Amino acid sequence: MQLFSLKGRTALVTGASRGLGFAMAQALAEAGAHVMLNGRDARTLGGAVDRLADKGLSVGAARFDVTVAAEREAGVAQILAERGRLDILVGNAGVQHRSPLAEWREEEWARVVDANLTSCFFLAKAVAPAMRDNGYGRIVFTTSITGIIGRETIHAYVASKTGLAGLTRSLAAELGRDAITVNSIAPGYFKTEMNERLLADTAFVEKINSRIALRRWAEPRELGGAAVFLASEAAAYVTGHQLVVDGGMTSTLTM
Ligand SMILES: NC(=O)c1ccc[n+]([C@@H]2O[C@H](COP(=O)([O-])OP(=O)(O)OC[C@H]3O[C@@H](n4cnc5c(N)ncnc54)[C@H](OP(=O)(O)O)[C@@H]3O)[C@@H](O)[C@H]2O)c1
Repeated sequence: MQLFSLKGRTALVTGASRGLGFAMAQALAEAGAHVMLNGRDARTLGGAVDRLADKGLSVGAARFDVTVAAEREAGVAQILAERGRLDILVGNAGVQHRSPLAEWREEEWARVVDANLTSCFFLAKAVAPAMRDNGYGRIVFTTSITGIIGRETIHAYVASKTGLAGLTRSLAAELGRDAITVNSIAPGYFKTEMNERLLADTAFVEKINSRIALRRWAEPRELGGAAVFLASEAAAYVTGHQLVVDGGMTSTLTM
């Protein structure tokens, strides 16, 4: 058995039209899985699927909004109808909102929590029966180092990612008996569109670098190995775990 091979597996990666989701989708496909990429914008999603297909990878598009229950359920049902199986779910789609505490409104809070936390719970609920029937299941959520340490202004983000780390553990407890593992990956600072505004501020980029053991921001492709590991046979006995990929930011005191 090849420990890291995903040959014969079908994966759904949400929020895969760019950024970390795209990088993880590419890594899973390179490891042999058929990967369904998800996102809302049809053009961006189509472009992402084409880029991977042009490399000879086995991919498809699953366009839906993870926060809309009917779309979410139809999306999963369509994959199961087309592929007959769904072995790996990477719940990665997420959004951000930054405001000082006094300016937060309820709709902004709800938008972030819906996308980052609630949608992951109901996606897991939707895919679990098929994984149980197949006797193989890998659920991987993208949390964040803000699921471990707090940061000002991004209150709903910190709360949703901390909640998602907890959900990782409660789902692991319930689904283990069905040979379904549930883990999360907590990225540190990666160069993606979500961080465009932060990346434009050279002083901020340098300040962050000085707090990271590896002294640099990460490239999206540097998350791929963690996703392949948790999705593969190699991680068969790893569940309820949050794998931190942050260049040492939360584990070291850099000076
Ligand atoms: N970048 C980092 O440094 C970092 C660090 C820690 C954690 N994370 C987490 O990693 C994940 C990906 O972040 P990223 O930086 O790659 O973000 P990004 O560049 O903004 O990409 C977000 C992706 O999610 C999709 N998306 C957003 N809302 C969606 C929805 N409601 N339904 C379906 N798809 C949706 C977007 O496509 P559409 O807009 O077309 O839907 C896009 O494909 C997020 O959960 C984020 O919180 C990122």
